Amino acid sequence: MFKKLSAVFTAILFLASSTFGISAIAQTPMTIKLSHVVAENTPKGLASLKFKELAEKKLPGKVKVEVFPSSQLFGDAKELEALLLNDVQILAPSISKFDRYTKKVQVFDLPFIFKDANASRKFQDSKEGQALLKSMEDKNILGLAYWANGMRHISARKDISLPQDVAGLKFRIQASDVYESFFKNLKATGQKMAFAEVYQALQTGVVDAQENSYSNMFSQKFHEVQSTILETNHGILDYMVVTNKKWWEGLPADIRKGLTEAMNEATIYTYQIANSMNEDAKKQIVASNKAKVKPLTADQLAAWKKALEPVYKEFEKDIGPDLIKAAQAASR
Ligand code: LMR
Repeated sequence: MFKKLSAVFTAILFLASSTFGISAIAQTPMTIKLSHVVAENTPKGLASLKFKELAEKKLPGKVKVEVFPSSQLFGDAKELEALLLNDVQILAPSISKFDRYTKKVQVFDLPFIFKDANASRKFQDSKEGQALLKSMEDKNILGLAYWANGMRHISARKDISLPQDVAGLKFRIQASDVYESFFKNLKATGQKMAFAEVYQALQTGVVDAQENSYSNMFSQKFHEVQSTILETNHGILDYMVVTNKKWWEGLPADIRKGLTEAMNEATIYTYQIANSMNEDAKKQIVASNKAKVKPLTADQLAAWKKALEPVYKEFEKDIGPDLIKAAQAASR
């Protein structure tokens, strides 16, 4: 009798606990990890926090977005693999870092393809730019948006003005074959290196030079270990926000809708802040009196463009001449 009663009691306890267990699970917000490699006080750092704020506001109790800046969760080398393993759900790598997955996006890296950041944005919004968001779907990578940073410039440990001045220098580059060719054409070397390692590599002389936006140079203190920043505007540093396609498509419709709205609003925000953050970073670099910031004269600019023309020929086939034309049209 006692045994029977205790079995009934255990069954009731089990039922109760599993019922509460299920309701506890139903109330647990889904955790979404967003990882990036830059500091928080940058256009991408702030856009990531804005996305978190908006997503949690639009989906109260349903999602929790954890943002990991400064390569804290994954650095350049591992982040895309981690996305494919669903160890992280959202990334925003520089567009240069996708060339292992699609050759088409290399169009963004062609030297002087965009006259300014607005032209890059115009191309991103075009039919061709939007199609690139889907160009890695066969690899299970889906582009959700483009986020802005700004134009790229060259810094070095010596005084430079003309293309021939960088001959023989070793440049840190992002994982981009176009940038490898870029520096080869200048008789310099491009060494692919994760962002997190750049400051130390510049400081210890492992590399002599690098290229980046003002906000990245300032937030990483590159200007403290370089003597010149030449304002070349030779390329754009923007981001493609990507997700694991299977994970995204498996989300409940209401969550996907809320996240899409949050992403669209965070994207508008990044375009609102990027220009002024880069301008401000430039001012602070100038005021620090460490690296000398030098603009290019019209003749110097023409010399840089000429020296880098061969890069177009090398990548035209991989990228496609029509896509190159569409990107060039955005500067007109
Ligand atoms: C770099 O590696 O220099 C940049 O892509 C870092 C970033 O994400 O802005």
